[in-house]
Amino acid sequence: MAEVLLGIETSCDETSAAVLVGDGRRAELASLVIFSQDVHQVFGGVVPELASRAHLRTLDPVVRRALAEAGLPLSAVDAIAVTQGPGLVGALLVGVSYAKTLAASLGKALIGVHHLEGHLFAPTLEDPDLEPPFVALLVSGGHTLLLDVEAWGRYRLLGETRDDAAGEAFDKVGTLLGLGYPGGPAIERLARDGTDRFGFPRPMLHDGFDFSFSGLKTAVLHAVRASASLDADRADLARSFQDAVIDVLVEKTARAAEETGHPIAVLGGGVACSTALARRMAERLRGLARVAVARQRFNLDNAAMIARAGWFRLGRGERHGSALDADPSLPLPGLLPPRTPPTPRTRTA
Ligand code: KG4
Ligand code: ZN
Repeated sequence: MAEVLLGIETSCDETSAAVLVGDGRRAELASLVIFSQDVHQVFGGVVPELASRAHLRTLDPVVRRALAEAGLPLSAVDAIAVTQGPGLVGALLVGVSYAKTLAASLGKALIGVHHLEGHLFAPTLEDPDLEPPFVALLVSGGHTLLLDVEAWGRYRLLGETRDDAAGEAFDKVGTLLGLGYPGGPAIERLARDGTDRFGFPRPMLHDGFDFSFSGLKTAVLHAVRASASLDADRADLARSFQDAVIDVLVEKTARAAEETGHPIAVLGGGVACSTALARRMAERLRGLARVAVARQRFNLDNAAMIARAGWFRLGRGERHGSALDADPSLPLPGLLPPRTPPTPRTRTA
């Protein structure tokens, strides 16, 4: 029998609800509502208190709207999936408390979902046959991870950022260039009219699978300070920065595909909205791996991906009770130890 799942996402500055109808084998999206809190644009970044308050105000109407668009009453919902973490603690709390209350009062199943596992499942909303093994590059405002996905729920960490996340770097450089928040989409638009004239460094390009973007951001800062006319240089700065980030993301993903031999590379998270990234990744991986990337609506924070990941977890018999807690630093479930143990350090003293 088909199961109706309500997904809820409130980890950052999008209040979102979705209805997913699953029949055990296939999951069909019945509705998705995303309320983007544009209040943060005034401040050049997400203000946590304002985010929580906006979630409080809008979550209930957003959920009702998602149910109405799916043509289903609340009583038809069988289970609720909610983002448990990571994210802003106050923002997460709003979604988790709401989901817990709803599940308890209706007597329905509840599952807490890891936000990044949601991003990982996003492409399956349009490509239901997408199956591991694959490598996954998850690039958002808060995270940059390269994973070897052996199976759903079994994730081997290949690399992660040592400082700023890729999206965070786009946002900070967006501010440096006077483009407002979020920086990513504005930089991509501007970069189309620019050239890679500044030749910024490609941090850690050939050095393992970890990433580092804070030095690159500083290089842009120095170039901005040295610029005689920011108006004249802005497009080239955007293009040079974007090319440097994309080169690093593409090179490491290609190397991960080569080393694992996996035939697919999944891109997920807000930065995967970059068409420049998807295009360059597809060019570099031609003959090596197929690139799977969801459309923009499913890559930015949304509840459809949370419902889809929740559907997977519920299908394995997992449930959370009323003890479910928001966890701003929730570790990714199913994370496996590195394949090769790190080489022991030579003792010097
Ligand atoms: O996954 P997401 O919606 O939120 C988090 O979980 O963080 O990602 C948002 C991030 C922002 O940093 C934004 O600048 C970036 O995704 N982003 C982009 C593009 N569109 C969104 N970065 C580069 N190019 C884009 N076209
Ligand atoms: Zn996200």
